[in-house]
Amino acid sequence: MRKRIYFNAFHMNCVVHQSPGLWVRPEDRMTQYTDLNTWVELARLLERGRFDALFLADVIGPYDVYRGNAEAALRQAAQMPVNDPMLLIPAMAQATEHLGFAFTSSTLQYHPFIFARLISTLDHLTKGRIAWNIVTSYLDSAARSLGQSELLPHDERYDVAEEYVEVCYKLWEGSWRDDAVVKDRARGIYADPARVRAIHHEGRYFRSDGYHLAEPSPQRTPVLFQAGASPRGREFAARHAECVFVSGLNPAKVGELIRQTRLQAGRLGRDPADLLFFLYAKVITADSEAAVQRKYRDYLESVRDEGALALLSGWAGIDFSKYADDELLQFVETNAVRTLTQSFKRPASAHRWTLGELVKLVGLSGGGPLLMGTPEQLADTFENWIAAGVDGFNLAYMVTPGSFADFVEGVAPVLQRRGLMQTEYQDGTLREKLMGAGRARLRPPHPAVQHRWT
Ligand SMILES: Cc1cc2nc3c(=O)[nH]c(=O)nc-3n(C[C@H](O)[C@H](O)[C@H](O)COP(=O)(O)O)c2cc1C
Repeated sequence: MRKRIYFNAFHMNCVVHQSPGLWVRPEDRMTQYTDLNTWVELARLLERGRFDALFLADVIGPYDVYRGNAEAALRQAAQMPVNDPMLLIPAMAQATEHLGFAFTSSTLQYHPFIFARLISTLDHLTKGRIAWNIVTSYLDSAARSLGQSELLPHDERYDVAEEYVEVCYKLWEGSWRDDAVVKDRARGIYADPARVRAIHHEGRYFRSDGYHLAEPSPQRTPVLFQAGASPRGREFAARHAECVFVSGLNPAKVGELIRQTRLQAGRLGRDPADLLFFLYAKVITADSEAAVQRKYRDYLESVRDEGALALLSGWAGIDFSKYADDELLQFVETNAVRTLTQSFKRPASAHRWTLGELVKLVGLSGGGPLLMGTPEQLADTFENWIAAGVDGFNLAYMVTPGSFADFVEGVAPVLQRRGLMQTEYQDGTLREKLMGAGRARLRPPHPAVQHRWT
């Protein structure tokens, strides 16, 4: 097989993730997001289609930037109501054997001591199929919900994240020696106390003097995802991420971002090939070009601008109700997702976006590329993006599970015939499935490794 392309399904435990308005369509199932069967059946479908993982987004505050309140978001169910992503995973793991589960958790939301145990528990229950998408939050509403007046400044949030992961590494890698659990029935000894120790962390943002409560799990440190491409975000990715979630419309630009991040990782002594880059994208496919166009027009009719505006305002940290539809967007330094606001800063020659255009794009595609075509055409498109430097895709949906079923039944077989998508899973943990046999644990010089107690 040629270098295979990785595929994750991008989802969220809510009614509207990236498709504002489409939830009303009869074939969309997300009004049943509170029903565990919805998720178990989705996980089975994805495993049948040989997806690498289900990737769950999350936010911990409402989208209340648009018009200064959450009314639009609530009317449109735009990422609210939203339930916890983590709690879905054990049921889906029970129903599958290989599918990975990546979920988002902000460094704002738990003390790292508590979070480290949640991860270890899930890593045990899934037999090592867990990944963590490390995010730093972009909604002030999240900070307010947790008793803070607003988010910390953008770059300082990444400083917090640096320390947060350090505490986690100490707990996952350094609190229990690899051979601490002896399970000696004859002597009646479960763990050797000489091989279990407390960590002592005293930092700027966190303190912990504690034993990791969970015994060593298959991966110890979960597979680490990061999303966020500001200069500070990239620096964080270069040091810590194994998988980077990128977004962008232009293959050359995305390719350059990837090249730069790999170079940065290389300067830190890491093998640049140890980082996998996943592009956000949505797909519309059918047997013929005419049928693809019909689907596209059909979906377009369902899109609700109000939901798109609520999401977009939250991501950018800009209240777009104050802009006219035909107004050209300017770069404004905000405290939210700089990856997005930076894209408004274009050289004079490049296309400048109006608000109206951006709302249409977000409404249909969530702001990333909308890849349309027959399965053969889409396979070519995926190959072009791979040539630009991406390793895989986080595919969002128009309707769910329909968009994923279309991919599994139509596109996956074509990719598999071309040797571009796995037909069987590699055995082992998620890290081994992604990085190769023998790679169950992180390897030097990843910063987690220095905390390992062997
Ligand atoms: C493709 C992509 C997906 C993201 N998914 C989430 C998410 O699910 N939850 C969240 O709180 N932040 C999410 N973020 C936000 C980032 O983790 C980060 O906090 C934010 O982008 C600010 O960093 P930046 O300025 O470096 O982009 C995402 C960002 C990108 C670019």
